[in-house]
Amino acid sequence: MNSAPIGIFDSGLGGLTILRSLEKKFPNESFIYLGDTARVPYGNKSAQTIINYSKQIGEFLTNHNVKLIIVACNTSSALALNVMQNYFSIPVFGVIEPAVLYVENKFPKSNSIAVIGTRGTIESKAYSNQFKKIGSTKNIIEKACPLFVPIIEEGLSSELIINEIINYYLNDLRKLNINQFILGCTHYPILKFALKNFLGDNAELITSELALSNILEKFMIEQNMFSNKKQSETSFYITDMPQKFLELGSRFFGSNLCNVKYISNF
Ligand code: DGL
Repeated sequence: MNSAPIGIFDSGLGGLTILRSLEKKFPNESFIYLGDTARVPYGNKSAQTIINYSKQIGEFLTNHNVKLIIVACNTSSALALNVMQNYFSIPVFGVIEPAVLYVENKFPKSNSIAVIGTRGTIESKAYSNQFKKIGSTKNIIEKACPLFVPIIEEGLSSELIINEIINYYLNDLRKLNINQFILGCTHYPILKFALKNFLGDNAELITSELALSNILEKFMIEQNMFSNKKQSETSFYITDMPQKFLELGSRFFGSNLCNVKYISNF
């Protein structure tokens, strides 16, 4: 048994979609979420910068005695996961491998899979490399959509402008008759409705939270890592307090965010 909290982070709000599903799956666990709102977006920064940020956040979380770290950001998972796994002595999980394993098992007959994500994630080829690593022969088509995150963080995901931008990035992909689309950015579930509208009824939009929580459950059973506390709590830390944070944050999280602390020394 281990009652220490689970640490989880993202560049901003996107990781809240992961946190929400982990909280549901593990109601007795406590969580510490860090949203690096001062430095979002991560998607167009260099690998070295993302490694530095991710290590710094990992240190913050380990100083708060977390028992493991979830990198709830595809860009950090793509560019910094290996470094973090070598650097920290506690387990560190990313979001890319769970999504890839899920797709490989669930859709054995699909020859082509699309992945959309930030520029950093897509240019790293983290998804196609992960498919190769597990021996997949699928054709992986990766497409960067760098304007999605700023639009989402601005709270414009339900405005008409988003349809133009989706069309701009995904029109070519739509013509390829692909049915499975991995949403390779934890912000993108907020666009599910608009994406589904654009890509059509046959399009399956795949996110990693379910696969991640199943992998985590298996790991925590094997390692006897569950909390035996009756009461759990979630604390939120952010590195800047943008005006719309609480409003947008509750949209991502599905309920109001309580216990939000601003850290100024990042
Ligand atoms: N939500 C993050 C991801 O999954 C980061 C997006 C960003 O900050 O650009 O990639």
